[in-house]
Parts: sequence; structure tokens; C-alpha cells
Amino acid sequence: MRVAMIGTGYVGLVSGACFADFGHDVTCVDKDKEKIAALERGVIPIYEPGLDDLVKHNSREGRLSFSVDLTEAVGSAAAVFIAVGTPSRRGDGHADLSYIYRAAREIAEKLRDFTVIVTKSTVPVGTGDEVERIIREARPDADFAVVSNPEFLREGAAIRDFKHPDRIVVGFEDERAREVMAELYRPLYLNAAPILYTGRRTAELTKYAANAFLATKITFINEIADLCEKIGADVQEVARGIGLDNRIGTKFLHAGPGFGGSCFPKDTQALIKTAQDYAAPQRIVEAVLAVNDVRKRAMARKVAIALGGSLRNKTIALLGLTFKPNTDDMREAPAISVVTALQDMGATVHAYDPAGMDQAKKVLPDVTYCDTPYSCAEGADALVIVTEWEQFRALDFARLKKSMKSAHLIDLRNVYRAEEVARQGFSYDGIGRPNSHVLNDEPRVVTWLSAAGPSSHAESARELEAFLAHADERGVGA
Ligand code: UGA
Repeated sequence: MRVAMIGTGYVGLVSGACFADFGHDVTCVDKDKEKIAALERGVIPIYEPGLDDLVKHNSREGRLSFSVDLTEAVGSAAAVFIAVGTPSRRGDGHADLSYIYRAAREIAEKLRDFTVIVTKSTVPVGTGDEVERIIREARPDADFAVVSNPEFLREGAAIRDFKHPDRIVVGFEDERAREVMAELYRPLYLNAAPILYTGRRTAELTKYAANAFLATKITFINEIADLCEKIGADVQEVARGIGLDNRIGTKFLHAGPGFGGSCFPKDTQALIKTAQDYAAPQRIVEAVLAVNDVRKRAMARKVAIALGGSLRNKTIALLGLTFKPNTDDMREAPAISVVTALQDMGATVHAYDPAGMDQAKKVLPDVTYCDTPYSCAEGADALVIVTEWEQFRALDFARLKKSMKSAHLIDLRNVYRAEEVARQGFSYDGIGRPNSHVLNDEPRVVTWLSAAGPSSHAESARELEAFLAHADERGVGA
């Protein structure tokens, strides 16, 4: 089948390359001339494992091409996918649909025979209706159908997710469109991937509901982690204990610094807005977003507490900046809030990330970027794991300890266990787990007071109060 993919962002490029790999004839279209020229040379604008090879292979085989011009791609296609961005609109948090509607108008001009127009971008309920209206108005003569086919790809695992999906959701109103979509996904159907055919509005809402539910799951376990820290329980064991119940499931129960990325924060926000407009407020999702926002910055306080309460004149080494591993994406990454809060509290920040430093430099200019985890840790008062990249799972603690000013590890992804790190002479603070100083029953508050001295540093009364309250709750003897 001939497919046109409008937009060569993350979703468009991955979907286009995968459809080509299924044997379809795909043209990816983008207005950005430089991007298209680069793609034609085999230069991929995003970091996604396996995408490079997939694009090169299918381009060589003649199934995947790139163009800045819609005319031929749309005119000859059985299906035209709209995969342009839907950023949060400045000011009100609604999804900005201007790119979608512009694409719809441009597609309308080029339609020839019966064509299925598919929205792949995450769009609020009713967008398919509006796309249909725009095209109908521009081209009353055109024969077309509009379908919603949301994507459920995770960055870093997108190709696998596309080729082995848990399900495919197709929202349609015209039987002919259903047939085209069934043909397009036939290779997956043969793999027994469930295809769910629904009404168009149902498909649109399914996407938001899926992301909101996953964000809720993460936020739920993050709050349970906070409680674990206070009562001396282990969140990983709690997560396993509940996750083994099939009705709950073990996935997306990893406590951490809060969710980030280009999807969960934006999509939960957009769902909240839509729900308010329809007078069906989603109070759980509203709470999820609010809790998550506060959480990211609160991680910096965790670092301060581990270092005795103050970060003035302290150097903090951060490992991992991207919102999750195996991507260079910094959008809404918890690291942004963590770094900003650390700097606000007076710390100097050093950072290392295997793929995200170029992107990070744009949003976090006042950071010293380093070439390796070890050069990052040199002279630091604490090491903080923010993103759980594979290469941080077997750090050489003896080497780190030699070059650091003091040996503290704050592990925001629970990569390590307190005992193993303590054996290497490091103090350890994880998320929602027994921490080494609690384990060792070390009265850390005393250390704090003696180190700081009664007036040697200008510690704020508020910081001290918060520290004491925390120490008290943990029972470390304020
Ligand atoms: C998410 C969904 O998982 C995809 O199904 C969906 O297609 C995509 O959004 C989208 O709408 O386009 P993605 O944003 O790539 O995918 O990343 P996730 O792997 O879902 O992680 C999102 C955030 O949640 C990350 O910051 C991650 O660290 C955090 N997370 C995830 C946790 O803190 N704990 C977990 O247990 C899982």
C-alpha cells in the first residue's frame, strides 16, 4: 500500500520506517527542508535505538522516501497519516491543534481517489470530527474518511512497541476505512496483535485514558514511596507485593523522581482541560499532575538532607539527565527541576548523560558537562543518579570514592541497594527504601549540627526546621 506520513518527528519517523519495513511504500513529508535533506542522507534527527538501521535499510530497498512536497505523496496514497506535533498551548494547557488543522487543509488540496486520513498524533476528543469538517469544506468533491489510530510507543523501545504492540486501536466511522487499516496492519494481525475497532471518539479518548492511567500508577507508587521512607518499609517490595496481583500488574510501579517526557505531562494536562470543558472533571488526574510537579523539585531537598541540610558551596554530580534512559529527550525531564532547585539552594552542578547532553545544554546552561561518570564525580560532595542508564548500574565505587570530596550516593531510581553501597563506604539514600544512615542508626542530625556550627554558615531557619522535622520523623534522634 502507498502511505504518506505527514510530520517526521518521533511518531512519524518511527511509524513511517516500520510501515515501510512491513513492505508498504512510504513517503515521509516534512516542511523542514534541512531535516528532509538530512534524512535523505541517512542522518536521523532523534536518538532511538534501531531507527537508524531501519531507515537506512528501507530507503535502500526503495520502500521509504522523504519529501518536502505533499502533492505526489498524498495524491497517490491509500492512507495519509497526520503525525505532526500537538504541544501544550501556551497559557491554557489545551493541546495546540494548529499544526493538525493546517496539515488537514494542505492534504485536502491534494486528494485524488478515496483516501483514508489517519490522525496518529495524540489529539483531544472531537479532533477527527474537525479534521473531517475542514477537509469537507475545502474539498466538497473529495472521497475520503477520517480515522483515529493513536500510537502507544515508548521512546527508547518504539520500534519494538510498533512491531509487537499490546493492541492497535482504530477508531473509524466508514467501513471502507476499516478495510484499508486492516490491510495496513495485516503483518501485525498475522502476529496475532489484537486490533480494536471502535468509534473515532472512543479511540481518541482511549489514548488519553491510557497515558493518564499510567501516570496515575507511577504517581501512586511515588506517594507510597514517601510513606515507606517515613515508616521504614521498602517500596520495591510493596510494588512487587501488589504487582503480582494480575489485576494490578508489576509494570509502571517503579518509584522515582516523577514522570517526565513529551507525553505524560502534556497529555494529562490536556485530558484535564477537555474534561473541565465537558463538565466531567478528572480529579484523580488533576491530583496526579499536581503531585508530580511538586515531586521533581522536592528531589533536590533529598540531596540537601543527605548532605546535612545545606547545599551552599557544595558540588553535586548528576548522572543521567534525560527523562528516561535510551533517549536524548530532555522534555519535562525531572533533571531540569532537580538541577534548578539544586542551584537555587546554592549548589554547583556537574552532570553526565550518555546521550542527552546536547539537548540538556539548551535548557540547563549553567551546568558543567563532563565526559564520563568518573570525571563528573571528581571533587563532588554527592553523586545523584537521576536517570537509570544501563552504564550506571555497575559503577566502580572505589574509584569514585577516591576522587569525590565526600562519599554520598542519592539514587533517585533505586538502582542500588543501601547495603552494597554502604560496604563501599558510601552513605545511601534511595526512594522509598531503608537508607544507609537509618540502617546504621547514625544520628545524622548531630553530624549536621557539628559540621555546620551554630553560625558558621548562613543556613536558613526554614531549612533547619524542615531538616529537623524530617530527622524526627525518621526517628534518627533530633
Ligand atoms: C509514554 C507511554 O508509555 C507510551 O505508551 C505512549 O505511547 C507515549 O507515552 C506517548 O504518548 O507517546 P514515554 O513518554 O516514551 O511513553 O515514556 P515512558 O516509558 O512511559 O516513561 C514516562 C516517564 O515515566 C519517564 O519519566 C519514566 O522515568 C517515568 N516512569 C515510568 C517512572 O517513573 N516509573 C515507572 O514505573 C515507569
